[in-house]
Amino acid sequence: MGDMDRGSKPAVLVTGGAGYIGAHTAKALHEQGFFPVVYDDLSSGFREAVRWGEFVHGDIRDARALGETIEAHAIKAVIHFAGLIEVGRSVVRPDLFWDINVGGTMSLLSAIRERGVDRLVFSSSAAVYGQGGRGPLETIPEAAPKAPASPYGDTKLACEWMIAAECRAYGLSAVALRYFNAAGADPSGQIGEAHEPETHLIPLAIAAAIGRGPALTVFGTDYDTPDGTCLRDYIHVNDLAAAHVAALNVELPAGRFEAANVGVGQGRSVLQVVEAVARAVGRPVPHAIGARRAGDPASLVADPGYVRELLGWSAQCSDLDRIVADALRWEAQPAYSTGGRAAGPTARTQPQ
Ligand SMILES: NC(=O)c1ccc[n+]([C@@H]2O[C@H](COP(=O)([O-])OP(=O)(O)OC[C@H]3O[C@@H](n4cnc5c(N)ncnc54)[C@H](O)[C@@H]3O)[C@@H](O)[C@H]2O)c1
Repeated sequence: MGDMDRGSKPAVLVTGGAGYIGAHTAKALHEQGFFPVVYDDLSSGFREAVRWGEFVHGDIRDARALGETIEAHAIKAVIHFAGLIEVGRSVVRPDLFWDINVGGTMSLLSAIRERGVDRLVFSSSAAVYGQGGRGPLETIPEAAPKAPASPYGDTKLACEWMIAAECRAYGLSAVALRYFNAAGADPSGQIGEAHEPETHLIPLAIAAAIGRGPALTVFGTDYDTPDGTCLRDYIHVNDLAAAHVAALNVELPAGRFEAANVGVGQGRSVLQVVEAVARAVGRPVPHAIGARRAGDPASLVADPGYVRELLGWSAQCSDLDRIVADALRWEAQPAYSTGGRAAGPTARTQPQ
């Protein structure tokens, strides 16, 4: 699809739109009457995931290329997903995370300032809260202490600060969405989760269950939670995509910065996920019990009250069995081919 198909639709720049959450959001934008322009360097994303709107190959740190893209496509608003996401890698390569996540956001802000774009939606993370800091069964409100437990979380919080200051100084209005655990895939089977390496529980549990990956390791069964395993707030990626569209549409005065948790408000344990995957696949998930992983909080569950108030949004398709069914449909098929990447490793081997 090219600009010919654009008509009078407002164009939205989607940085990182060849990645997991960005691709689902580009689809939601298309369905809601926007024209997505994906800007991505394909370092971890896939060309094949860009099926709606336009694709521009570029690096988020390249302010000039961003500015030219904004001008060429008459961009009205920006959704900023591009960046590095692996917490463990951020511990050993913090420099890369500051460069791409923080430096990239800085270059994006300068490009949108120069071209007069006045709405930004930013991918933030529950990682800004670090350990959560509360009891295992308590949800986390936006006002909870910000104490990231990794350089990855540090960079997300630093970006929020930078964007908030930009709003105050230059009249931008912005919404930072602090996601909890994105999961599932579009039911069409056209796009889905493909991280390299994959570190997320649901794809790893499915891979173990269908015999395409090693047995799953459950990291710790002695947490202060109902079944002893960690609790997380799994949100369907299409619910997350809908939250981005709502954040683009919400009326905000110039200069306003908002940050909102995007989650379901309900914790599911590692063992509950394992059971849901076993139900969906129809056979047990081979798994071993391992030691706790350093830095894993017992519970990270959103209080979604504020996002409901701010955006009128709440999760619609984040039932755990539905998330797992959609993820399984995606995982069970050959996904993006090697040709989807500009360079780099194969995203996924064929099912055995
Ligand atoms: N997946 C989750 O559960 C989760 C949770 C909280 C926050 N987030 C945030 O959401 C965003 C998207 O996450 P995702 O899971 O879709 O990750 P992803 O790796 O699938 O997508 C990131 C995209 O950014 C692109 N990118 C990376 N560096 C770039 C650069 N220098 N220039 C241009 N593009 C670049 C990649 O090619 C990829 O397409 C990230 O900012 C992440 O921090 C994700």
